[in-house]
Amino acid sequence: MKINDKYDPGFYRAHESRYERMQYRRCGNSGLLLPLLSVGLWHNFGHTNDLEVGRSILRTSFDNGITHFDLANNYGPPYGAAEENFGRLYRQDWKPYRDELILSTKAGWDMWPGPYGTLGSRKYLIASLDQSLKRMGVEYVDIFYHHRPDPDTPLEETMAALDHIVRQGKALYVGISQYKPAETERAANILRSLGTPLLIHQPRYSMFDRWVEGGLLDVLEKEGVGAIAFSPLEQGILTDKYLKGLPKNSRLLKDGRYLKKETLTPELLEKVRNLNEVAKQRGQTLAQMAIAWLLKDPRITTVLVGASSPKQMLDNIGTLKNLHFSQAELKEIAKWI
Ligand SMILES: NC(=O)c1ccc[n+]([C@@H]2O[C@H](COP(=O)([O-])OP(=O)(O)OC[C@H]3O[C@@H](n4cnc5c(N)ncnc54)[C@H](OP(=O)(O)O)[C@@H]3O)[C@@H](O)[C@H]2O)c1
Repeated sequence: MKINDKYDPGFYRAHESRYERMQYRRCGNSGLLLPLLSVGLWHNFGHTNDLEVGRSILRTSFDNGITHFDLANNYGPPYGAAEENFGRLYRQDWKPYRDELILSTKAGWDMWPGPYGTLGSRKYLIASLDQSLKRMGVEYVDIFYHHRPDPDTPLEETMAALDHIVRQGKALYVGISQYKPAETERAANILRSLGTPLLIHQPRYSMFDRWVEGGLLDVLEKEGVGAIAFSPLEQGILTDKYLKGLPKNSRLLKDGRYLKKETLTPELLEKVRNLNEVAKQRGQTLAQMAIAWLLKDPRITTVLVGASSPKQMLDNIGTLKNLHFSQAELKEIAKWI
């Protein structure tokens, strides 16, 4: 990983108009407002990436009012690297802005060997957050998530661990990710009884993956919980980048772990091509239309994008120029999703 270690820590000054450039939504029934777009560090912040690019992605985001950066213990590669690299950037750029940032991290997937480095035990969650705080170089995170449901640990134990972490002052709020509607309702009830309300759910949601419409969003509304939609661009498929072949620098060619060539079938590309035409008629890029389409539902608090360059981030932020859909546009989009 390349990084300029002689970087002048006093150099970064956030743009003065940043808060005029963004819109914010209340997260469920909480007091917390989140920007319509948030930025995730799953990819592009590992030890194999150029951290100067990462730095400029985060600066571009914050300069445009994106206050929320999302991490997890195992983002990298290798595991832990995104938190470590964020920690380096934090010391150089972000420390003066700590009270303007919403930082999140998670535990739930495999992190270290043995039975205490994965899933949902109290043992794992508390140890993992302690490690994350050290890597990131912060005293607390704003949101700590259980990253995925664990069918074998009592939900009461996992939720009590989240409550404990808040009482320790190591997180201000708690969230869950990838939980199904019934599990979410139970988790919300347990947390409420403990006195630590469930702030937010982080599900996968895009034009091509609409499972949350089958009950989860109704539960979140009823329980007063916010929603942050991850992989809104289907890891890049819901952009125009794969319409003319496979770009050398794309996630699909650089890192085939999660986005595989077989996914890009001719049928899928045909849908993307048609959606791209609708976006053009709206005067938007397809990425912008895919983000706006999620935000048309007020239950979606924020859309959690990834970006491999500041240019992509600016494109995504440009979504805010047109969030409205006509009935005719929605009908046309519905044919292809
Ligand atoms: N809770 C969970 O279980 C979970 C799981 C996955 C992700 N997440 C969170 O969600 C975040 C976002 O996930 P994701 O990275 O899959 O999101 P995504 O926004 O669907 O995909 C990001 C990728 O799309 C491409 N892209 C982004 N903006 C573009 C634009 N304007 N034009 C063209 N291409 C563009 C880039 O790909 P190229 O690299 O090809 O340029 C970028 O790396 C993660 O960082 C993480 O914080 C959470």
